[in-house]
Amino acid sequence: MDFFQRQYPMTSVTQQQIIDLTTQLNRYAREYYTQDAPSVPDAEYDRLFRQLQAWEAQYPQWVQPDSPTQRVGGEVLSGFGSVTHQVPMLSLNNAFSPKSEQGAFNHAEMYAFDERIHQALRQTPLYTAEPKFDGLAISLRYEQGVLIQAATRGDGATGEDVTQNARTIRAIPLRLHGDSVPDLLEVRGEVLMLKSDFADLNRRQLAAEQKPFVNPRNAAAGSLRQLDAKITAKRRLYFFAYAIALLDDTFTPASHDDELALLACWGFAIPPENTLCRRADMAQVLTFYEHMHSIRASLPFEIDGVVVKVNDLTQQRQLGFVSRAPRFAIAHKFPAEEALTQVEAIDVQVGRTGAITPVARLKPVFVGGVTVTNATLHNEGEARRKDVRVGDTVVVRRAGDVIPEVVSVVLAKRPMIAAAQSGMLNLFDDAVAQQSQYQPFELPAHCPVCGHEIECEEGEAVARCSGGMLCQAQRAQALIHFSSRKAMDIDGLGQRQIELLVSQNRVRHFADVYRLTLADLQAMKYEADTADNDNNRLPENIADVSDKNEISAPSKNNVLITSGNNIDTAQPTKWAENILNGIAVARIRPLHRFLYALGIRHVGERTAKQLAQAFGDLATVSAATEPVLACLPDIGGVVAHSVAHFFRQPEQAAQVEELLAAGVVPETESKRFNLSGFIQPARWLSRLPNIKLSEIRAQALWDLVGGKGEALLTDTALPQEWQQWRNQAVNQTILRETLVFLSQIEPLLQTQPAPAAEQNNTLVGKTFVLTGSLPNWSRDEAQQHIEAVGGKVSGSVSKKTDYVVAGVAAGSKLAKAEHLGVAVIDEEELRQLLKVM
Ligand code: IVH
Repeated sequence: MDFFQRQYPMTSVTQQQIIDLTTQLNRYAREYYTQDAPSVPDAEYDRLFRQLQAWEAQYPQWVQPDSPTQRVGGEVLSGFGSVTHQVPMLSLNNAFSPKSEQGAFNHAEMYAFDERIHQALRQTPLYTAEPKFDGLAISLRYEQGVLIQAATRGDGATGEDVTQNARTIRAIPLRLHGDSVPDLLEVRGEVLMLKSDFADLNRRQLAAEQKPFVNPRNAAAGSLRQLDAKITAKRRLYFFAYAIALLDDTFTPASHDDELALLACWGFAIPPENTLCRRADMAQVLTFYEHMHSIRASLPFEIDGVVVKVNDLTQQRQLGFVSRAPRFAIAHKFPAEEALTQVEAIDVQVGRTGAITPVARLKPVFVGGVTVTNATLHNEGEARRKDVRVGDTVVVRRAGDVIPEVVSVVLAKRPMIAAAQSGMLNLFDDAVAQQSQYQPFELPAHCPVCGHEIECEEGEAVARCSGGMLCQAQRAQALIHFSSRKAMDIDGLGQRQIELLVSQNRVRHFADVYRLTLADLQAMKYEADTADNDNNRLPENIADVSDKNEISAPSKNNVLITSGNNIDTAQPTKWAENILNGIAVARIRPLHRFLYALGIRHVGERTAKQLAQAFGDLATVSAATEPVLACLPDIGGVVAHSVAHFFRQPEQAAQVEELLAAGVVPETESKRFNLSGFIQPARWLSRLPNIKLSEIRAQALWDLVGGKGEALLTDTALPQEWQQWRNQAVNQTILRETLVFLSQIEPLLQTQPAPAAEQNNTLVGKTFVLTGSLPNWSRDEAQQHIEAVGGKVSGSVSKKTDYVVAGVAAGSKLAKAEHLGVAVIDEEELRQLLKVM
């Protein structure tokens, strides 16, 4: 039996009820899609929709042609039929308004258009203007008010039959709305994809490891031309109606805006914003154009200009056509946002978070109204994919307000290729090919700002400078983090002061903060105020990457100090004293906050707490080695590496030392957890870098040396692979350091705290089942925690199960638990039960 019939028991229903429900649902859809004013919640719509599906399943003979259930796509086609347009689908002539260096539009072409119309009509025309949608044109044919055909533009004379696909687009009425509908109507309009739906679609494409679409127009075109309309149905397309091509003579609109009004009555979405420019003169048209240009980026869909049409239909007919375009309308396109220029150099920029961005330095070029001298190449992968090289001619794009980017290289113009083509260069001459400007781009190994290593972690597109606080570019950000509430919580020291302290070079290391004096802060304010007077003009109209990029100088100084409530004229130094007080108080903080404040990559609050609770004091945390760190419950290889590496960088270690010397006290952690459960030979051995040992093999190795760690370094009877690994200097160092560290923490590993059962005996013998993925713990980790307090973990749910711990995408086990009435908890609740943070 059909699903819907199961849900809705057979009831007798009349044909009229089906018709009424169809009409009601179509009204809701119209309110939602074309009027943007839904009157019922989505859930109610869905309920009624299922009701209609159920009735239709019962009485298929009464399914209405405009039933919303018919929008899902039917059979897969083997190809599209062709449709001859009764009225050809024409194109529009273009007009451009280039922008001057000062940013003013030059509308000469539009004045010429206005003049031509004037001449031809011998009277003053009125125009209607509307957005020029960047989608694809289609023609919809309605007979007796019902959609019977949808066709693409094709070559203008014949197009493809995309009726099935168009039916899935909810903004296209399947039946014209209202009592008064024409017998024949052909509507022209644009199918497009909203920017937000485009972003969603590309996210899904990427998740499914499919190629993303280049832009919403390509996505819309690809989606409309699907032989399987079920795919189109999933793609969320939209439709705006902008013209009537055919209409029987029961309706006689006199103007373009009359036509739009009729289309709106029949349930179509018509070009928004155009109420601003109906029956307008050329001056109003141009104001509208400039308005649309300025709001372009914020519109929910892409437009590439404005379409200007003579409003009066009689005048339109009078004006007629030239070749394949009407004389009465013009596409007033926005200035080109792409231009050709040459790459003079490729640099890398360091962002405030250490992100490294390759940037092409360009021969200045005027694009979309601004002079562009830099364009981002996003990241190393992008730069290599586009293969941009110094000397290349490139296409630069400025999309809306975003940072200009290099779109592609004009390969034929690459100096080497061009020279080779003209016989002036021998491509096979190694000396030539070695020249740096002919080489593909490579990220430098060291940060151009501070010289620290640039690191790129596996699976991450973005490379980062590892300098942190030691890198001028990142210093302000690092310090803002250091003093933030969850870190050292330095009251009174805000972002604006930090940016000044850093840009004036008054603070270069964390410890410098604790050495600030009243005189320093006053000097800082004085310098900021003076700089203000010379420095409050910024160049205009230059889209320079460095202006918008993370690295840019601190925002305008004038707002930094003088605003805010720190200033009290009666006590002129009060603000500075407040800051100094805040700093003094922030000397003593719990170890975990101190660790978090250091800004070690991948160490968030939770990891910092783990480290503190595992090792107790700073000296032990900083001496812990990578394989030992990786034994802790929430810490994987990447985090362990990051922590161990941080404390082994001499400059970072020196910074920490200086903090202690400046009187900062990371308080020893009182709440500790039992390390012996986590740090065991088989575990840390299996977590050594550069070698993959399973815990079983690691245990075997440990047994081979009879539990004597030293022998791992010297025994020549151990497996070849092991000996090869340990003979590498780096590996040997890690192993040696680990053995030393373990001997130091020996007491921690020995002290067996009170058995778990005594601590938390409520969980002894309780059975847990883990399902789905937990937000912070792997299943193994969760299991270890459960077992540490005497609980058991089982693979399947039964009546004997005490708790099912469900994470994301929990499947049948969760369903079974619910069925059996077993308690279902999440990770947070599990942590509470286990009394682990
Ligand atoms: S009216 C006689 N209005 O522009 C042509 N076209 O180059 C009547 N377009 O393929 C077209 N927005 O897809 C008109 N508001 C609008 C438009 C628009 C976009 C597209 C249309 C056509 C192209 C003409």
